[in-house]
Amino acid sequence: MLELTAELSRSLGEAAAAILRSSHLVALAGAGLSVESDIPPFRGPGGLWTKYGEPTNLSYREFTKDPKEWWEARFRNEDRPGDPTYELKVAVDAAEPNPGHHALVEMEEMGLLKCVITQNVDNLHTEAGSKSLVEIHGNRTWLRCVGCGVRQPRDVYHFDSLPPICTQCGGVIKMDTVMFGEPIPEDVLLASREQAETCDCMLLVGTSGTVNPAARLPLVAKELGATLIEVNPDATTLTSSCDITLNGPSGELLPLLLKRLKNGGAGEPGERA
Ligand code: APR
Repeated sequence: MLELTAELSRSLGEAAAAILRSSHLVALAGAGLSVESDIPPFRGPGGLWTKYGEPTNLSYREFTKDPKEWWEARFRNEDRPGDPTYELKVAVDAAEPNPGHHALVEMEEMGLLKCVITQNVDNLHTEAGSKSLVEIHGNRTWLRCVGCGVRQPRDVYHFDSLPPICTQCGGVIKMDTVMFGEPIPEDVLLASREQAETCDCMLLVGTSGTVNPAARLPLVAKELGATLIEVNPDATTLTSSCDITLNGPSGELLPLLLKRLKNGGAGEPGERA
């Protein structure tokens, strides 16, 4: 349980005041936001890459070399304990949105949060009710055509033959999740950049700030005068660029921040974390 120190209480007040002053708040979410949904992060304590090593940048090249084999391997779906992709799949399949996701939804419903740019592919923002969302690394519940970029829900697709072929352009269909070595689709890249250039306040939630182009977005916003607020139990590469840092788990801090926003920025007597 988070200890609500005087310093944290002060920082929460500063963050709430900055958000209430803002006219275009954007959140940049990373894997840390889903840790309290029991999905492991990639880096830092308990991270999948910490455990298994960072993957190479060859996944996309392997896919394009033999999409049929990639899809057949996926459908073979051997239980592969000790495989980070399998470990992530098991965790995401069982995950539910946590209070951090729900707090972002309420900030959006209050008209304060204009957009969430997420690096997470777990679909938990949508399940929690976020409407204005840019999924810069894709979404695991969708498919996307490599040729024309058309997306469709994975659940309605009949995998009669492999690899799945796009009925619009005849291109090969892949998971919407962006693979290592795959260019970020143009539409989400432009949308995320536009949000970073438009915002006057950016809430960095649970990201190590190590993977571009997402990690550059806060710096773009900062250069254009935005206030940066970081929510993270640990320091990151972005911490030194942030105006306000809230050290702790987002599943506890975002609901506390939401409470401040609802109270016009003030804390409540005897407020508990
Ligand atoms: N609440 C908030 N932040 C947390 C929590 C928590 N409960 N637990 C951990 N964190 C923080 C960690 O301190 C770390 O800074 O979340 C961050 C997770 O960092 P990464 O695992 O690197 O996740 P992310 O920044 O989203 O990675 C970006 O890397 O491998 C790619 O595609 C993958 O989208 C991912 C990208």
